[in-house]
Amino acid sequence: MVVKAEIHCHIEGAASPALVEAQAKKYGVDVSAIIRDGSYVWSDFTSFLRCYDVASMLFRTEEDYALLAETYLSELAAQGTIYSEFFISTDHAVNAGLTPAAYISGLAEGMRRAREGTGIESRMIATGLRHEGPEGVERAARYIAANPHPLVTGFGMAGDERMHEPRDFAKAFDIARDAGLAITVHAGELVGAESVREALDHLVPARIGHGVRAIEDPALVERLAAEGIVLEVCPGSNIALSVYPSYAEHPLPRLRAAGVKVTLSSDDPPFFHTSLAQEYETARTHFGMDDAALLEMTRNSVEAAFVDDATRAALL
Ligand code: HPA
Ligand code: ZN
Repeated sequence: MVVKAEIHCHIEGAASPALVEAQAKKYGVDVSAIIRDGSYVWSDFTSFLRCYDVASMLFRTEEDYALLAETYLSELAAQGTIYSEFFISTDHAVNAGLTPAAYISGLAEGMRRAREGTGIESRMIATGLRHEGPEGVERAARYIAANPHPLVTGFGMAGDERMHEPRDFAKAFDIARDAGLAITVHAGELVGAESVREALDHLVPARIGHGVRAIEDPALVERLAAEGIVLEVCPGSNIALSVYPSYAEHPLPRLRAAGVKVTLSSDDPPFFHTSLAQEYETARTHFGMDDAALLEMTRNSVEAAFVDDATRAALL
């Protein structure tokens, strides 16, 4: 089994329908609108985000989040994964009635349990939601800057890329960077190369979440390679959300051939009917990658991980 690592997964998006149904039963909530026959029901990016938001409302206590993180990380470890970096959203926690502090503390407890049980190492990346606008993302940045946690090592932005411009969020990212957090941002998923270029220019990330649509501009691809910007590529997510019609059109092989540092991640695995193991298998069958190429993906993730040098050295 090829050793794996991932650096792009949303913790609420890692909750399986079975786990959400168990939570729904516990809280006496009807989730038949978002889960049918054991699968999440959504049809496009907007309805995916809505489905995701409804599912996240079933995690309401510190222990709920400990269970979610422990479950997700233990499953990853069983797939041969040594490292996971996942996105957290204090906005989702607050909407579910939890304080950001309890949310992070619950997740950290789940990370501790998974590490104790399996050895898997993990870190959290705080995120703001782009569709909540600049004030919301600044609020998320200010919270994490004022309340540092040793396992929260990065700051990013998820949500609907079609809304607002990267430059609108420059202040939020400055706050996070000044607090010593490493930076990544979702771009080049629902919007083309311009979105990636603007994110690089205004938010100065070390990594881009997705970034695959940079392929639409050869000069930008050259820039990504020259500047060593790492792309958190999630092929199964891109196919599920119809960013590309099929794996044959997916640009990962072309980006890699152009010298761009690419990695493999699962994004929101049960929503997109995938897993990290499935992503590695997809790369093998659809992108022609052998064990050595897949190990290069793992190495790229560990090299780009938001961890201290000693942790990185122990993983490599
Ligand atoms: N893109 C943007 N925001 C998200 C995603 C995604 O794939 N998953 C969860 N939030
Ligand atoms: Zn994502």
